[in-house]
Amino acid sequence: MKAMVVVGGQYGDEGKGKVVSHLATNDKPNVVARAGVGPNAGHQVWVDNIKFPMSMLPSGFVYEKARLLIGAGVLVNPTRLLKEIDDLKIDRKRVGVDSRSTVITQAHIDSEKGTGAESELSNKIGTTKTGCGPAMADRVRRVAKLANDEPVLAEFLTDVAKECNSAEKVLVEATQGFMISLLYGCYPFVTSKDTSASTAAADVGIGPLCVKDVVMVVKSYTTRVGAGPFAGEITNERAKELGYDEYGTVTGRQRRVSESLNFDELKYAAMINSANHIALTKLDTKFKDAKGITVYDDLPFAAREFVEEIEAKMSLPVSLVGTGPNVNEIIDRR
Ligand code: GTP
Ligand code: IMP
Ligand code: MG
Repeated sequence: MKAMVVVGGQYGDEGKGKVVSHLATNDKPNVVARAGVGPNAGHQVWVDNIKFPMSMLPSGFVYEKARLLIGAGVLVNPTRLLKEIDDLKIDRKRVGVDSRSTVITQAHIDSEKGTGAESELSNKIGTTKTGCGPAMADRVRRVAKLANDEPVLAEFLTDVAKECNSAEKVLVEATQGFMISLLYGCYPFVTSKDTSASTAAADVGIGPLCVKDVVMVVKSYTTRVGAGPFAGEITNERAKELGYDEYGTVTGRQRRVSESLNFDELKYAAMINSANHIALTKLDTKFKDAKGITVYDDLPFAAREFVEEIEAKMSLPVSLVGTGPNVNEIIDRR
């Protein structure tokens, strides 16, 4: 078995969903396995100009032959998962949920909202209020409900670790980003779990020696949602002028923006993730005439200079370059 892990190199929302959907279509893995925290993640995948917002299923659903698995390490909101399967018209036989994954209950969600027990903390950190933190805390206290005990998930239950390890090619989709890792990010303004490639592999039951490639996704500028330190932050108005304004898939909040890339943070992230490739997204937002280009040499000179500066500073190849939100708007230089 050979696994490729896709992780976020910044604060989440780098465009992992789009990168994973390209890799799934192109590399044809037998399995796309969702790792990461849970439905606090939100991806937008665009296929033929149709938008698919998603937060539970792997974004690799676009490759129709792949089995779609959710690992034991992932928090599952059953209602959301079922709705997503219906909305995306996914064949239910393709979907598998590890029976050991943790279930998010309404009580977890409520505790982060309004006057709930966790609401003060949740407001301070600016959490997504999807119940992820409280569910993770219950798992650590060993009182959480597992997927195995949730009747509506019965038809999907499987051993994701076994399925991954008996497949030939596995694409592992992590969520969030390095800088909001519980261990390595800007604590306490972080999510409830480590977000590195090793944890993503463990989430789906893959050992380190099976991971052959780690793709670290980096957006051409930096965004962050929620509270916490953020170097080089510009105003919302300036972000709009530059066309860098973005709004969260899960919360609808306007993302905070910094125009530049923080190479100290990115190098540290690459080290801990053992990244061997970078996927650079939203090059078309920074360089408008890069839009839709699929051949590297057709990029405008300034855009190529930017890509090559990143390669030099990171000592890593920028193997994938996003030039638009659609799955096919990408340059694959591997
Ligand atoms: P999390 O798992 O929540 O961290 O999300 P994510 O990394 O999958 O990213 P998300 O979908 O939240 O945000 C990225 C946004 O950029 C989405 O709206 C994508 O459609 C869009 N996007 C991704 N790649 C490109 C690109 O190369 N160009 C443009 N213009 N948009 C892109
Ligand atoms: P939580 O994960 O909902 O507990 O939120 C904790 C912090 O992580 C908040 O700052 C959130 O905005 C941030 N966060 C969690 N998931 C994502 C994500 O997928 N993209 C970006 N930020 C996220
Ligand atoms: Mg997102």
